[in-house]
Amino acid sequence: MTEFSNRQYFLASRPEGMPTTEHVQCRDVPLGEPAEGQVIIRNLYISLDPAIRGWMSDAPNYIEPIAIGDAVRSSVLGRVVSSNHPDFEVGDVGMAMGAWEQYTTLPGEALNKLDENLGIPLSLFLGVLGPTGLTAYFGLLEVGQPKAGETVLVSAAAGAVGSVVGQIAKMQGCRVVGMAGSDDKCDWLTGELGFDAAINYKTCGDYQAAIRQACPGGVDVYFDNVGGEILDATLTCLNKYARVAVCGWISTYNAAEIPRLDNLWQVVAESLTIRGFTVLDYLDRFEEGVTQLAEWMMAGKIKYREDIVDGLDNVLPTFLRLFDGSNAGKLVLRLPE
Ligand SMILES: NC(=O)c1ccc[n+]([C@@H]2O[C@H](COP(=O)([O-])OP(=O)(O)OC[C@H]3O[C@@H](n4cnc5c(N)ncnc54)[C@H](OP(=O)(O)O)[C@@H]3O)[C@@H](O)[C@H]2O)c1
Repeated sequence: MTEFSNRQYFLASRPEGMPTTEHVQCRDVPLGEPAEGQVIIRNLYISLDPAIRGWMSDAPNYIEPIAIGDAVRSSVLGRVVSSNHPDFEVGDVGMAMGAWEQYTTLPGEALNKLDENLGIPLSLFLGVLGPTGLTAYFGLLEVGQPKAGETVLVSAAAGAVGSVVGQIAKMQGCRVVGMAGSDDKCDWLTGELGFDAAINYKTCGDYQAAIRQACPGGVDVYFDNVGGEILDATLTCLNKYARVAVCGWISTYNAAEIPRLDNLWQVVAESLTIRGFTVLDYLDRFEEGVTQLAEWMMAGKIKYREDIVDGLDNVLPTFLRLFDGSNAGKLVLRLPE
């Protein structure tokens, strides 16, 4: 590899089940000069998000699938190393949709400049002050519409999105119950984040019984990060006029088929509202969301965990940790400057 090559991981074939090195492969490609209006950033952080697994498939989704042969698409944060755009100088830092690669070449308009002098660790702009924090903020407040005194249940509660959902729900005066996959995660939710109760869904046995026990007054808002059997069980525990904010269905992303929901009739029986969303629905309100999240974070009202792993060559095994629950908080890959 010369200093003018770009190491990247690309989609060689579409996975069924967990992606492996058969589906995601490494190559070094030449790095050219930026064309008129373009910049080249050296990636400092790559955000590892469950949604990337969906983009590896060609099933209908909210954005185009990754084409076979293309580098694996990912949000990235990097430093400008070459600029042919009037708004960017070498040394500027910004965020964009990039890929699992050392350098990303992109139009200047696609790079969202960040101020390094705020004293905020840059990686947070991919997590609590970025897409995952914003997903929690808009998904809970706009879609879930929680009211003081109500009970909010959140799945994948110790993750990047779920942990912020629960803390915002507490600030709304709700009773908050989280579901997570280990006792350590459950202890963090109740011990440090102020959740009222937590369910270890891997050891609790019957989901319905566990939810009813942890939510004796029923559930008014379910923030669904996982879909599948947990969603199906929760449908039977929802109160009249409850809302389900469908954020993601991580339990199905590597599954051959999506399990059927036996309890969907509860939508009629309890006059439920089930509404899906993506954070992109709120693009024009991102500034409001980031400002509020930053204020809460600075005031210590929102705590977060980051799981930062070094080295581009670790990208695939690190990404897979999202699906066995071994990530603790927002999963980010760090590349050397
Ligand atoms: N709609 C949007 O715009 C939007 C934006 C961002 C993320 N999302 C969605 O939000 C959800 C969480 O994403 P995140 O980035 O915050 O990831 P995360 O929660 O930090 O990490 C994923 C977690 O999901 C849990 N999980 C994995 N497989 C599971 C299974 N089969 N059943 C139950 N839980 C499972 C694991 O935690 P445990 O140890 O608890 O099992 C894992 O740590 C995902 O569904 C994602 O697609 C949606």
